[in-house]
Amino acid sequence: MFRNVILVAMAILTMVSCAAKKEKSSELSIVPQPNGVEQQNGFFTVSEKTAFVVPESKKLREAAELINMRFKNAAGFELNVSAEKPAKNFIAIELNEAAAKGDEGYSLTVNNQGATIVASTERGAFYGLMTVLQLLPAELESNTLVNDVEWYMPHVTIDDEPRFVWRGMHLDVCRHFVPVEFIKKQLDVMALFKMNTLHWHLTEDQGWRIEIKKYPKLTVEGATRIEGEGHEYGGFYTQEEVKEIVAYAQKRFINVVPEIELPGHALGALTAYPHLSCTGGPFEVRNIWGVEADVYCAGKEEAFEFLEDVIDEVVALFPYKYFHIGGDECPKDRWKTCPDCQRRMRKEGLADEHELQSYFIKRIEKVLLAHDRIMVGWDEILEGGLAGSAVVMSWRGEEGGITAAEQGHDVVMTPGNWVYLDHYQGSSKVEPVAIGGHTTLEESYGYDPVPAALSPEKAKHVLGTQGNVWSEYMYTSDLFEYFIYPRIIALAEVGWTQTANKSFDSFVKRMDKQFVRLDEHGINYHIPLPEGPVNVMAFTDKATLEFTTTRPVKMVYTLDGSVPNADSNEYTQPLTFTENATVKIRSVLNTGRMSDVRTIQVEKQDLLPAAEVQTKGSGLKMKLAQGTFVRVDDLKKADKWAESVVKNADFKGMFSYKKPSAAIITGYLEIPEDGVYEFATDVDQFFIGDKLLINNDGEVKRHSRNNSTIALSKGKHAIKIVFLNNIIGGWPQSWNGPVVRFKKQGDEKFTTANGEVYSY
Ligand code: ACM
Ligand code: ZN
Repeated sequence: MFRNVILVAMAILTMVSCAAKKEKSSELSIVPQPNGVEQQNGFFTVSEKTAFVVPESKKLREAAELINMRFKNAAGFELNVSAEKPAKNFIAIELNEAAAKGDEGYSLTVNNQGATIVASTERGAFYGLMTVLQLLPAELESNTLVNDVEWYMPHVTIDDEPRFVWRGMHLDVCRHFVPVEFIKKQLDVMALFKMNTLHWHLTEDQGWRIEIKKYPKLTVEGATRIEGEGHEYGGFYTQEEVKEIVAYAQKRFINVVPEIELPGHALGALTAYPHLSCTGGPFEVRNIWGVEADVYCAGKEEAFEFLEDVIDEVVALFPYKYFHIGGDECPKDRWKTCPDCQRRMRKEGLADEHELQSYFIKRIEKVLLAHDRIMVGWDEILEGGLAGSAVVMSWRGEEGGITAAEQGHDVVMTPGNWVYLDHYQGSSKVEPVAIGGHTTLEESYGYDPVPAALSPEKAKHVLGTQGNVWSEYMYTSDLFEYFIYPRIIALAEVGWTQTANKSFDSFVKRMDKQFVRLDEHGINYHIPLPEGPVNVMAFTDKATLEFTTTRPVKMVYTLDGSVPNADSNEYTQPLTFTENATVKIRSVLNTGRMSDVRTIQVEKQDLLPAAEVQTKGSGLKMKLAQGTFVRVDDLKKADKWAESVVKNADFKGMFSYKKPSAAIITGYLEIPEDGVYEFATDVDQFFIGDKLLINNDGEVKRHSRNNSTIALSKGKHAIKIVFLNNIIGGWPQSWNGPVVRFKKQGDEKFTTANGEVYSY
């Protein structure tokens, strides 16, 4: 027995000492997955004695500085940069024009002597360096000294080049503005994943964000809006700041493509200079999402002169060859009734307003060609005939891209279903409010930018892809990052790695190391949330809660009200309850990083008895007060209420965001049979009987997360709806109206409560 105790004690000691000394891992976790990689046994360790052999190239010396800054911060030493290669202990870059790889390719050998990158271009060499960074421990991304890390790389031979030349991210800074430092942070991360294009969406209906010296009002009147809540919102980049960002990007081999939207999405500019419109205004910068009807006038020469001047100044700031002119979603309403536009159509022999749009774009194309720039536009630029030299960015599916490529135009494939990073990446019932859509990490990862319909010859026109970051619902910098990551990294691999070398399972495994890197950069990336049960789960006999996640991750939970940590009970099967309970549940990544906590109240209820009433007929009673009410509490200020009956509960045309108001709507809802019912609504408050079932007060009232359940008897139940016809976070409540939906627990589909089930 004594001997056994000693053996156990020895075993424990061994385990402890193993745990203390961090094992070297030979696992490669490079993202994007290189297109040719072989691993050998062994490691090469970098120390302050390691030589950093860099050719006499300004760009590569700058890149070496970036690497050295990481060593300095995280490892506490810098490498000696020189052009002389020692016999051993080096990280060496060799520029060799005869190297077989294309403009962005590189080879990398890591062995006992050191690490050698060979490339024919500086860009290729830079990507070799990015792979070196990813072979080293992820802690190298730390901004502060990391002790007890050995800076080693596994021995490898890598032969790598990207599948596509356009590996990008689009960034809308108009709906919401981000500071210069935020953009630099994203550029750092983009470079790490070998992305090479930032498409910077700078002008919009909701704000003009780039200084134009000839038109100073653009960044005064044009850059500021009054939000529905009443406060000012604005921001813009000075030309100096733009230069700073472009230079910062260039150091990381990222090209910046500006987007100056025309002829639509122009209300920022028109607010500042209303004479550029068809009607002459006046206008206000749009404070709600969606597409504005007022656009640049296609008949007035002043509009073209203005755009030529703007392009003059913008081209001077952006040296890259591509220039994006938008071109999407241009309503033709104003052009149809504008004498100048109609005169232009007659004079130019244009058959309709689509041809007028094409005329507009082709004039701008000429301006850009004179500046030696290639015009890029969203796929609507196909309307009425495509400009000869245009590159098409396909966003309304793949059709536009296919048509343009068939016509011999280069295309960038950005179809909504895969690359729109403003989409939900999990259930809308648990995720922060988004514009809509549903695109998981796996779906983004699975995108193939070459449509099956294209012949191999035409497929050569596919330049690549990018993640589109439209920022309507990205109210903070943290939310930008939450939507962007990790999907943008999946798209970085889509852009780089040949289909045959891709695997989602492998990508997810490799992301473990990348999450550590993102942590070091302070990136607020998305972690899948436990989905399924809503926040209040009523039951009469027994409740069974089944949770899922959008990709396999561990879930942990508590039942004692405490915040779950990584060691809490692991969720492995549905949880069953016969009494009241509070479930707190969250996800945990392999790195230990945890998601937000979800709290679910599990409530045993008796069926709420139906009301014993004789109602008068189909409809609801409504009390209406005029004015802006942002929060439910503001209703105290309402002193004049107009009372009415809304027959058949038909609210069509009763609310407009242009005429803010508040309504208190009451009546009865007919429940078809006994049971537990789930309710969903974006109204401010929804009561059943005396119970406040759903409270969206103060939230952006779109895709509410506050679904709730209640046990109800068959029959009529008193309801109350508090509906504030306001604008919060750019969403006008009037667009959906006071809609309530419900379903019996377990049913697939919701029913919209309407005339037949409401009475008063
Ligand atoms: C777009 O998403 N309107 C290009
Ligand atoms: Zn006009």
